[in-house]
Amino acid sequence: MTSLSGASGSLSLNLRIWRQDNPGEPGAYRSFRLERVGADLSLLEALDQLNEQLIATGERPVHFEHDCREGICGSCGFLVNGQAHGPRAATSVCQLYLRQFADGATLTLEPWRSRAFPPIQDLVVERSALDRLIAAGGYCSVNTGQAPDGNAMLIGQEQAASAFATATCIGCGACVASCRNASASLFVAAKLAHLGQLPQGQPERRRRARAMQQQMTAEGFGSCSSNLECEAVCPKQISADWISWMHREAR
Ligand code: FES
Repeated sequence: MTSLSGASGSLSLNLRIWRQDNPGEPGAYRSFRLERVGADLSLLEALDQLNEQLIATGERPVHFEHDCREGICGSCGFLVNGQAHGPRAATSVCQLYLRQFADGATLTLEPWRSRAFPPIQDLVVERSALDRLIAAGGYCSVNTGQAPDGNAMLIGQEQAASAFATATCIGCGACVASCRNASASLFVAAKLAHLGQLPQGQPERRRRARAMQQQMTAEGFGSCSSNLECEAVCPKQISADWISWMHREAR
């Protein structure tokens, strides 16, 4: 982690941002300078500030995705100095604050790079391949009854906690962007483990595992590289051990 900003509570940053007008045109890095911005701003708020400056001068703002800005929705995500979601572990890019960078630092911002995530504009890529993986089987379609039925079905604390830990996947795509094979294995494993550890997920368990893994190949995601980079960048710290578990599920 770099040193924090000065006592003034503000810092200046050089932003080197990938700009691409549309998918059919080549992109390039553009450099921008942010002078004395508040160290307690988030990186996305700094981009908001930059965009206000760009709009004021008649230039197209930098496009990036966001929604909750609380690490919940998975909309945000790009590379900061080559690292998915930036240098801070267990943090989505919307929760990255400028105080985590040194005064005068240069931040290179670029979109996820993956064949399965085609570029749209600037830092935004098309991530609907992840939605299609869910549509292939990442759901529970059996009748699980009403809330009282759920309450009547006892589940051990350890089992419930483990299922919940995998359910925290926000589908941001950082695991794909960080894998040298652009594999979606950690994403699929998390979804399978979430449902496969609970009683309601049992009837469709095998079919779900096969369907999602087949769809993963059909979408152009690669196979697991075993580098564990996915686990290192996952903002929810989902364990790559679930990938081995997933391979056993589909047998
Ligand atoms: S904007 Fe929702 S997780 Fe970052």
